[in-house]
Amino acid sequence: MDKTSIHGMWSSRLMFILAATGSAVGLGNIWRFPYMTSDNGGGAFVLIYLGCILLVGLPILMAEILIGRHGRVSPVNTLRGLVRESGVSRGWVGIGWIGIVAGILILSFYSVVAGWTLHYTFLYVKQMFGGAPISDPGATFASLLGNPLELTFWHAAFMLLTVMVVALGVEKGLERAVRFLMPALFVLLLLLVIYGMTTGYMGQAAVFLFRPDWSVIDGGTFLRAMGQAFFTLSLGMCTMMTYGAYLPLKGVSIPRVGIAVALTDTCVALLAGLAIFPVVLSFGIDPAGGGPGLIFTSLPLAFEAMPFGIVYGLLFFGLLAVAAWTSSISLLEPATAFLVERFGVKHRKRAAIMIAGLSWVLGLLSVLSLNRLSGVRILGRDIMTFIEFIANDLMLPLGGLLIALFAGWALNRTILREQLSDMPESLFLVWRWLMRVVAPLLVLIVLVRAVV
Ligand code: TRP
Repeated sequence: MDKTSIHGMWSSRLMFILAATGSAVGLGNIWRFPYMTSDNGGGAFVLIYLGCILLVGLPILMAEILIGRHGRVSPVNTLRGLVRESGVSRGWVGIGWIGIVAGILILSFYSVVAGWTLHYTFLYVKQMFGGAPISDPGATFASLLGNPLELTFWHAAFMLLTVMVVALGVEKGLERAVRFLMPALFVLLLLLVIYGMTTGYMGQAAVFLFRPDWSVIDGGTFLRAMGQAFFTLSLGMCTMMTYGAYLPLKGVSIPRVGIAVALTDTCVALLAGLAIFPVVLSFGIDPAGGGPGLIFTSLPLAFEAMPFGIVYGLLFFGLLAVAAWTSSISLLEPATAFLVERFGVKHRKRAAIMIAGLSWVLGLLSVLSLNRLSGVRILGRDIMTFIEFIANDLMLPLGGLLIALFAGWALNRTILREQLSDMPESLFLVWRWLMRVVAPLLVLIVLVRAVV
């Protein structure tokens, strides 16, 4: 039996792949991956991250999509249905609630950072019309962070863009945004990697990215690499479950789309690394400890130096904003779909505005933590980093752990087999074993090691 979703359905398999990739590829790949690598010692972090993608991320990605496709409604209600159907504890529905809270928290700072990319896009637009060049990127970035009004303005602008798409619903909203712009971003990154080759520092960059130095890692490195793996694949908060709910049962292979999404996402992150580190090195910046400002303080140097740099700068930050946009809608969609199921389909707009409004207000804390409240420390972190830590590094792995256990132990074989019908039995057994034991154990060890 194939049901459809009241929220609408993807018009084709390609649309789902684009939307899921659009969700996965975003600030996580191009902003967060390079600076996390920079802050965590390079190659060793990258290898642990790749290991997490393969052993934990990809199998959980498949689990999320299949749970969603079976349930066909928002995560909380999907889990309610599955719990009833399988006769297991109602406690599992908690996964959906974790997802809603994590989504609101992540969207709050995600929108602030995406606002930075809008601001930079605007700076390059101004340059096209004779505005001042970004000759001292460090100072430009610092002056943006020091200005709460400016930050709030762009944070609001970005949140508005996000609400607009989500309010329009699946076919009219989400699909349009991803069709052309994602491939364009990919091409631009490739061009930047080629530019990186001309700097003469590609070799050194590759060494930094891929040669592991195990002496610099500790329990925290594992936690951050795992958090990054969840974040970059949009896992652990039921985003992919929600997107899976809009996916037709026939003609779409979950393992295949899962692999396509994970592979594209990983390639974009690695390309971003190969685009950014040659620039960092060629301008004599220390690749270690770049912090969240890394791409904003390094890439403009390259854009000032290269021919047509203003055009590149404009395209780069513009497309990065779009990539963030196709991700932020996927942060807002799960909670919105839940409210739509409460209020009725006619009230999608109201539902989206309520959730986004809440997230926007929370985001003001992140804005202020960059300036007025920069002295405030919670567990040694500023407010924004603290929210990021709780949501990305703790809630996402925890959500993922529970999703893996749920798929591995609570769902019956018939449901799994119906959803993974094209998977050879041997691979299915491997996947189920990963869900039952390996992924939960790895996540648990990492969480426990980091806390103790
Ligand atoms: N994956 C996106 C990025 O890399 C961010 C994102 C979108 C996300 N939806 C998510 C992260 C759900 C965690 C959970 O930019």
